[in-house]
Amino acid sequence: MRYKTQKIAYWFFAACMLLFSLQLVYGFIMGFARMGYDGLHDWIPFNTARATHTNLLVVWMLAGFMGSAYYIIPEESERELWKPKLAWLQLYSLLLVGVTAVIGYHFNWWEGRKFLEIPRELDYLVVVNVLTFLLVIFMTIWKGKRKTTTAMVLFFGLLSAALLYLPGMITFENLVFDSYFRWWVVHLWVEGVWELIMGAMLSFLLIKLTGIDREVIEKWLYVIVGFTFLSGILGTGHHYYYTGAPGYWLMIGGIFSALEPLAFLGMAMYALSMARRGGRKHPNRIALLWTLGCAVMSFVGAGFLGFAHTLPQVNLWTHGTLVTAMHGHLAFWGAYAMIILAMISYVLPEMTGRTLFKHWTAEWAFWTSNIGMVSMTGAFAVMGVAQVYMERKGGMDFLEVQESLEVHSLGLVLAASLLTLGIVLFIRNFIAYGLPLEVRGDEPPAAGGSASMAPAAREKSL
Ligand code: HEM
Ligand code: HEM
Ligand SMILES: [Fe+2]
Repeated sequence: MRYKTQKIAYWFFAACMLLFSLQLVYGFIMGFARMGYDGLHDWIPFNTARATHTNLLVVWMLAGFMGSAYYIIPEESERELWKPKLAWLQLYSLLLVGVTAVIGYHFNWWEGRKFLEIPRELDYLVVVNVLTFLLVIFMTIWKGKRKTTTAMVLFFGLLSAALLYLPGMITFENLVFDSYFRWWVVHLWVEGVWELIMGAMLSFLLIKLTGIDREVIEKWLYVIVGFTFLSGILGTGHHYYYTGAPGYWLMIGGIFSALEPLAFLGMAMYALSMARRGGRKHPNRIALLWTLGCAVMSFVGAGFLGFAHTLPQVNLWTHGTLVTAMHGHLAFWGAYAMIILAMISYVLPEMTGRTLFKHWTAEWAFWTSNIGMVSMTGAFAVMGVAQVYMERKGGMDFLEVQESLEVHSLGLVLAASLLTLGIVLFIRNFIAYGLPLEVRGDEPPAAGGSASMAPAAREKSL
């Protein structure tokens, strides 16, 4: 860590860990409810648990992106953050809005639109919060010594994500219009601008961990940005097939969304080839493992499993079933959860001077959580395909089908327990790293950590 204001990233990451844990709790509530054990129904019905689960996901990921930006931007711009007090204010208000929204859901205070449930009053606070964040980031880049491609892609990814929040705030009487613009937010976030944020974080981590020249890594970043927009913008059409939008979307959405996996494949090949060519053997192998894991799993979850139901001939049957949940879990995990966990794995040793990445728990956290998530995806796939055949092809009653799927939810809960074990190990390491050290001055970080790593006292084991 070269600049003392970078320390704020630690608190954003700590918030991530807290909200992520809570998200898992709500996952279990739904997992058990799907098994037929819905004892909390009177207090937390399935729809409340679902909205809480997905909104906590979005909030912890936004906190993760913001924390990463507060760490990356000073380093790329070679200066302290502009007005760090605003960054602290922004952290508190983000948590306040997030927690208020989640509590509100338990009292039916929401808009009821999947992923955009936050009530309108709180939406305005979100806008102010994000504007504050963007201002701090923008001014830091503006006043910085250099403007790198990585910093610019990260900034424009974050700025576009903020702008694309707005179409979700327009009020329509007509459900077709409402749904049409809801996808501008949901789809253009995860299959558009969030990919820029991910690409920039990937590029930052690869520069640090492989030692390859910035010019080479950033050149590929441009190619990925190009591919993402080429396929992702018109790919929005894969949500317009049967929603009342004009029929030409069948063709446009089908063709362009079918090309989207190429951007993810490109990202995976790029990360793997950079790691192979990299001369430097950075001691933090775990951060590299999460980075490469992200590049590969995002292709599997978003690219491959997205393709599995993106053609209109398939989506006609699978739309809104557990096939969607199958893809949603591995896509969010592979692309966005893993890049944030990669960033945290890289940043903690830099900030605290400790080398816990050598401890066995760090590697186990990676493997158990990934095997758990892949198995959960398998469980959702079995349930989803069975649902499609029984309900959509066989014409069985919706609730009857749900009941017959209960037995498979046991597999889901078992797999989720493995994922949770991995996350518990990850959080245990997070806590064991301790608080960040004070800044070390201008000295560049040594490979694998910092000069302050030297004192044996800090080589604390768990
Ligand atoms: C990291 C990137 C991605 C993430 C996080 C993601 C996540 C999701 C989520 C959460 C949903 C459910 C949304 C809702 O119903 O409100 C969804 C739907 C969908 N996704 Fe993705 N996705 C990603 C990339 C892709 C890609 C690349 C494709 C195509 C190749 C794709 C194809 C689809 C389709 C067709 C649906 C609609 C499912 C339905 O009709 O119920 N996704 N995605
Ligand atoms: C303890 C672990 C978890 C369990 C048991 C779990 C379970 C569930 C269940 C039962 C649903 C509702 C599916 C339905 O019936 O419609 C759901 C939705 C969802 N979960 Fe999880 N989940 C867990 C962890 C995660 C994680 C780590 C992520 C992201 C990285 C995630 C992302 C999502 C998303 C995006 C949806 C909405 C999917 C859609 O729109 O179809 N979940 N989860
Ligand atoms: Fe989409």
